[in-house]
Amino acid sequence: MTTADNASRGSWNSKIGFILAAAGSAVGLGNIWGFPTQVADNGGAAFILIYLVCCLAVGFPVMVAEFTIGRYTGKNPVGAFRDLSGNSALAKMIGYWGVICGVMILSFYLVLSGWTFGYVMEEVFYFFGQSDTAATLGDLGHGTKNALFSVLFMTFTVLIITGGVSQGIERATKLLMPILILMLILLTSYIFTLDGSMDGLRMYITPDFSTVDTELVLSALGQAFFSLSLGMGALITYGSYLNKKQNLIASAAYVTALDLMIAVLAGLLIIPAMFVAQYGGTEIFNPETGALYSSVTLVFDVLPEMFHQLGGLAGALIGITFFTLLGLAALTSTISLLEVPVSYLIDEFGMRRKKAAWSIGVVVALIAVVISYETSLIDLFVIIFNEIGLPLGGLMICLFLGYFWKAENALKEIRHGFEGVETHWSGKLWSLFITWVCPVLIALVLMTTIVNIFT
Ligand code: TRP
Repeated sequence: MTTADNASRGSWNSKIGFILAAAGSAVGLGNIWGFPTQVADNGGAAFILIYLVCCLAVGFPVMVAEFTIGRYTGKNPVGAFRDLSGNSALAKMIGYWGVICGVMILSFYLVLSGWTFGYVMEEVFYFFGQSDTAATLGDLGHGTKNALFSVLFMTFTVLIITGGVSQGIERATKLLMPILILMLILLTSYIFTLDGSMDGLRMYITPDFSTVDTELVLSALGQAFFSLSLGMGALITYGSYLNKKQNLIASAAYVTALDLMIAVLAGLLIIPAMFVAQYGGTEIFNPETGALYSSVTLVFDVLPEMFHQLGGLAGALIGITFFTLLGLAALTSTISLLEVPVSYLIDEFGMRRKKAAWSIGVVVALIAVVISYETSLIDLFVIIFNEIGLPLGGLMICLFLGYFWKAENALKEIRHGFEGVETHWSGKLWSLFITWVCPVLIALVLMTTIVNIFT
């Protein structure tokens, strides 16, 4: 690749910048909303343990694979698999599938992200006694409001992306990630001062192994793929902007650890907060089934009700901070989802970054507007692109790397930045996992998911 090519594609400015950008991609609604509600639904700490195994045994090796493929080829997912396979149509499908999943996941993710912004405003209007406006802003089924906020969110994302890799993505995530972590710590500390929070803590750290079944393992693996941003080439794309000095295994370890830590911390916030709400008189368990309310109800009904119970300036500030936190976490994730199709247009069609970002932005925003009015589509999109799409992508990445490119060739790339990795235990273990353990586990889970859906 020539220097001119490199300059037009962009690259990361610093090691920490790359790690924060990848962690920003990973940390999102999946951590702060998805993980805690899954823990609450699935036997508390038992889910956390299984989730941990999924992240370490499957997520982490696949992340190393994505970084490596990205850095070696210096391309978007389609270009990467084309170059590695000598233009095989089958291999390119893996890349195309990634681009499609990126567009589709982004389109429903935008609607969810729009809800978080809506609720920031809801808390403001509620504080000023404008309950009618507040109610509209908090109405998840309000098509026009949803559409407006989704488009607004897309606009922010596009504006950051058009700034380029180091001046746009890296700069934004370097600013946002520390703010996000600080907000999370402040909120969690505050919740622990409120009555009822200890019941939540107890539920969170007490494992109930009676709930562990195949269903739970499926949810945990699906959650790991989504939360770590794997399976669709987002991290291939981020890896393609790396220089040869970065230690890919260490970077993936930092990103996985940050993602896990933030998810666990978010659980320490959300689950105690639910019980604080219950203490204040809000129902958190469905009286008919005895099960916890669904994740949407918990985050967008129960929590706002608790903020309103707290009342006054404190309630408003906590509410605003919480939904801003969710929104910022979502923003660093939508950036990575959009960057995949954008890098595809830049690399493959020589399009300018600005034009690529706005074109894809408009297409995705249009799909998001449809979903805004028809929110029941979200479940369908989640099943196809998230529950099936990501593990399928991950499986193809493992198979391609393990049986076509070969782990020993990948290790030659990983060696840049990690001298001696071929003989180091981490390199050996990684080869074993990426060729055997990961594909077998993912294939089992994928088959069970598909069987469950059709039966
Ligand atoms: N990881 C993000 C979350 O937890 C979502 C996300 C961003 C994502 N980029 C991705 C998921 C790429 C899959 C693939 O909310």
